[in-house]
Amino acid sequence: MPRTSSNPLKTWLSPPVARLSNALVRRAKSLHDLIDWELQVTPRLAAKLYPHAPAAPEYVLRKRLDSLPRDEFGLPTPPQDLWMGYGKTAEVYLNSGKTDIQTMSGILENAGFCFSPGQRVLEWGCAAARMLRWLYPHAQTSELWGVDISARHIAWCADFLSPPFQFVMTTTFPHLPFEDRYFDLIFAGSVMTHISELAEMWLLELKRITRPGGYVYVTIHDTQMLEDMLAGGEDYGSGIRAQVVGLEARAGLRRDGFEMAALRRVSGADQVFYDTAFVKQRWSRWFQVRAFVPRAYGFQAAVLLQRQA
Ligand SMILES: C[S@@+](CC[C@H](N)C(=O)[O-])C[C@H]1O[C@@H](n2cnc3c(N)ncnc32)[C@H](O)[C@@H]1O
Repeated sequence: MPRTSSNPLKTWLSPPVARLSNALVRRAKSLHDLIDWELQVTPRLAAKLYPHAPAAPEYVLRKRLDSLPRDEFGLPTPPQDLWMGYGKTAEVYLNSGKTDIQTMSGILENAGFCFSPGQRVLEWGCAAARMLRWLYPHAQTSELWGVDISARHIAWCADFLSPPFQFVMTTTFPHLPFEDRYFDLIFAGSVMTHISELAEMWLLELKRITRPGGYVYVTIHDTQMLEDMLAGGEDYGSGIRAQVVGLEARAGLRRDGFEMAALRRVSGADQVFYDTAFVKQRWSRWFQVRAFVPRAYGFQAAVLLQRQA
């Protein structure tokens, strides 16, 4: 099969790379090639991850010297290739995480949750801890974790942000390596937006590790986001507006209605869309839906869930 010498997942959210991946797959010579490629790059298969150097026969994790610029807490800033498109400068990248944490904190406070000593908090799908790092003021008194399926991101976080934070690699199989009822809060910015399979199993896994009364905060593409994109709204150069327009033309989501729609892309960056009323109704089988806030994380909606008993 055609292989690239560099890591094909490095910029998996970037539309040009997605187009390149599609082109490579079209050129694949056999079904075996296609399966091989799919297994390497597609995270929707359960128990997959983005490994270190997937195309190389070996990899070495080097000791890294910390000469990186620091933020206002003195924490190192990740290199740009770990920013996942959240800004083109370090300042924009860092501020985007600060804004998203502030918005989340406001929504949590309205529901009665405040950060306080002794809590356990998990960022599920943390990437380079763009959001988690802003919980630094609580890091001495709380247990703060980040997990992700991306080896590059978790390796960087473990090298540069731990301690005080803790990180562990996980997979796309809906299991997290924590005890039952462990966390006071789990949050996930733009993770459910990429989970096209086993989404409900993930919700139940998040519920398992949340303590009774604890909260789960996730962001999704909701009905408002679809309306915004179809009306020409801002997609911050992500390319998702064109994808929504294409999906609407093919599937008629507005005309015929829908519950969930998944756009599958060979690069692995699946995009998932939910009908707002469906989410409120379906997810309330397992959680109390405490808040639903459109446009809370860029063009994505925030859903705040609370575990009951
Ligand atoms: C769009 S990025 C958002 C990163 C981060 N939450 C933020 O707001 O900056 C989505 C992240 O979710 C991770 N991810 C996707 N599926 C996941 C899964 N099943 N478990 C853990 N992480 C996942 C990806 O590797 C990626 O780092």
